[in-house]
Amino acid sequence: MKVGLKIWRYDSKSGDKALREYEMDAPEEATLLDCLDIVKDRQDGTLAYRKSCRMMICGSCGMRMDGGAVLACKTRMYDIAQAGHVPVISAMGNLPIVKDLVVDMDPFWAKIRAVDPYLKPGYDQAAERENVVSQKQMESIHKESLCIMCGCCVSECNSMESDPDFLGPAALAKGMRFVGDPRDGATVERLETYSEEHGLWDCTRCYFCQERCPKGVDPRDAIAKLGAEAMHNGIDRDMGAKHAKWFVTSAKTTGWLRETELVPKTQGVISSIKEMKFAMGLAVKGKVPPPFPPHVAADVHESRALFDLVKEQGRDGALGIVQGERALMHLAHDAGGTDGAYGKGGDYPVPYLPEIDKPEPKPEPKKESA
Ligand code: SF4
Ligand code: SF4
Ligand code: FES
Repeated sequence: MKVGLKIWRYDSKSGDKALREYEMDAPEEATLLDCLDIVKDRQDGTLAYRKSCRMMICGSCGMRMDGGAVLACKTRMYDIAQAGHVPVISAMGNLPIVKDLVVDMDPFWAKIRAVDPYLKPGYDQAAERENVVSQKQMESIHKESLCIMCGCCVSECNSMESDPDFLGPAALAKGMRFVGDPRDGATVERLETYSEEHGLWDCTRCYFCQERCPKGVDPRDAIAKLGAEAMHNGIDRDMGAKHAKWFVTSAKTTGWLRETELVPKTQGVISSIKEMKFAMGLAVKGKVPPPFPPHVAADVHESRALFDLVKEQGRDGALGIVQGERALMHLAHDAGGTDGAYGKGGDYPVPYLPEIDKPEPKPEPKKESA
């Protein structure tokens, strides 16, 4: 098949930058990485990009296609070529470009190091007995353990774009991998560190990391779990934590978000007084509902029942975060079929789910008629 690529070429030493177009014959099964290899082998040996495993394991080949991060070795070109589309290939975002598609990963690794990405068991000597962890306990950090450190999530992170010091999705997902590990003995210490400025509460919840992660790690989900664990452990000094807590209080007491009280509860009274002029302007235009008496939803008992149920089930902390579980679909465990997610197969792969292993109930034996 004929494949066209437009590649942003860049040399950090000279500052030269140009969008160059290439066309090649490639086998139908070719990935973007195969096509880059063809360009480098046959057309332009100066093209720079990283690769190693060619099978979605090493995390080397992260780059952008048409503005979104992809793993080049996971990206099949057949449909794109058939559609006659010529994609634009560029280096990942939020990391300095060294040459062409190669970025400097030092800032990425610095953030991974900042979360202490290793078990801290809390004792110096190895335990005398093996520390057995159940399958169920490990499931809560199953996704976070799948990270291959490719940087695709960091490339698309909005928060990191405005604050390069933000710890970022990959490092925070790695942090959750250890916070959720029952063998780790530094949970509170970790949560304190991750809750500091530039930490977990600075995520803007844009979900681009979730969308772009090629391994189904769901970093935003991991960040939500960290937030829930921080609050569960009483670490709620940050405005983000206070903001989230007020949502819960509002829903429980009135069934609505008590917006007028959101600012003082989040920022504190003094900060809110400074915003008074702005608030009055909003009130005059009818944009601020009067706080008293609070408007209580007719069915407020439903949100209170939900609150009680979550408490009863012990779903405080990470266990209460289930929003991204469906993104497990992105994992490449299944070969095909046409049924939907979590079904019999389908275009989306079926992840490991314990209930799938449950044996089918045996049919009741037919009763002999007398
Ligand atoms: S959800 Fe948060 S961590 Fe993920 S890309 Fe958006 S801002 Fe970054
Ligand atoms: S979380 Fe996903 S996108 Fe981010 S570094 Fe890990 S594997 Fe790559
Ligand atoms: S070359 Fe290893 S992940 Fe693509």
